Amino acid sequence: MADQPIAVGNDIHRLFDLSWVARKWSSRGIHVRICKLNSHPHSSPSFFVGFRPLSKNAYSLPSDDQMFETYEAGHLLTLVLDSERDNPLFRSPIVKNPKHILDLGTGKATVRGVDLFPPPVSWMPPNCVLEVDDALQPWTWREPFDLIYMRIMIGSFSDPEWDRIYKRCYEWVSLYHGRHLDANSNLDHSNLRPGAWIEQVEASPVISTDDGSIPEDSILHSWGINTRDAAKKSGRDLDAIDKMTDSIRKAGFVDIQEKNYKWPIGPWPRDKKYKEAGTVNAQHWLSGMEGWCMWLLTKFGSPVPWTKEEVQVYVANMRKELRTPRYHAYQRARRVWARKPFPNETVGKREENKKE
Ligand SMILES: C[S@@+](CC[C@H](N)C(=O)[O-])C[C@H]1O[C@@H](n2cnc3c(N)ncnc32)[C@H](O)[C@@H]1O
Repeated sequence: MADQPIAVGNDIHRLFDLSWVARKWSSRGIHVRICKLNSHPHSSPSFFVGFRPLSKNAYSLPSDDQMFETYEAGHLLTLVLDSERDNPLFRSPIVKNPKHILDLGTGKATVRGVDLFPPPVSWMPPNCVLEVDDALQPWTWREPFDLIYMRIMIGSFSDPEWDRIYKRCYEWVSLYHGRHLDANSNLDHSNLRPGAWIEQVEASPVISTDDGSIPEDSILHSWGINTRDAAKKSGRDLDAIDKMTDSIRKAGFVDIQEKNYKWPIGPWPRDKKYKEAGTVNAQHWLSGMEGWCMWLLTKFGSPVPWTKEEVQVYVANMRKELRTPRYHAYQRARRVWARKPFPNETVGKREENKKE
């Protein structure tokens, strides 16, 4: 399905009418808090709060209400696109009663969620723990995880940092830190238990179309070029979608499986599920774009770094084009899940890279 074009609908839904999507998902017990997007002036000083360096690593996205709303829209989008499944959250066939799950770069939420910034949540299920930490720093969790999950971490790490993260997910770790070795101590373990799973979902920043409806000289077309170019200069590429499978394999994981998606942007598709997904994704973009590109373009924009005002005008033009019903835009996305082999498992038994 992911290779086929998404059929275009004849009806034009109003882009901002998210209430029907929100109502439907709220009735399924999924909390939806998508408020009037585009209304954030970005003039408050807190806008730049997210750009502060943490452990010398500047993260390129702001940590503010608008960005958290963007994450929420992204979360809903992934649920809609897998809504036919009993479990739209992840695909890894983990054990029936998992004990520990780690969500790296959680943004907000599940099980043990780790992020550079505290999320704005007032209530959490009792089985969730949120920690403010830098995933690039040494990991000190003692429990081996049944699943390590990452979603939309694009632009968070350089290539060597990604390799470090996957290696850390896979490898045996020691918390002895030079202390006297004691055979009965539980300070040695792997972060993922053998047979446990790693899963990652990433999307491309490039806006695509299957029917040529977006002209080459459109602003939408320039987005992928401008943001990828700036990200490359910053040392943190935006191509996790294309590199993650190989990096996961290189770290030693087996039974690698992939599902490719097209995330429509806008309510243009004919099929109800895609129309719903496109409506949510349009909001995801409308609320996210300024935060996604402000740091990148003001630091690394071409040919010289852009001013804040130039970025704002650019984003305003992007918003205008995103609302154009005749543009049938989508972005590619991919989900990869893979298993950590058991110590005595032979390579011959492994089934490699199944694609859906
Ligand atoms: C684009 S958001 C995605 C959030 C969430 N995974 C989702 O799908 O909604 C990326 C998140 O990764 C976090 N992040 C980036 N670098 C990190 C690091 N070194 N350690 C922990 N979290 C990090 C950011 O703070 C941000 O919340």
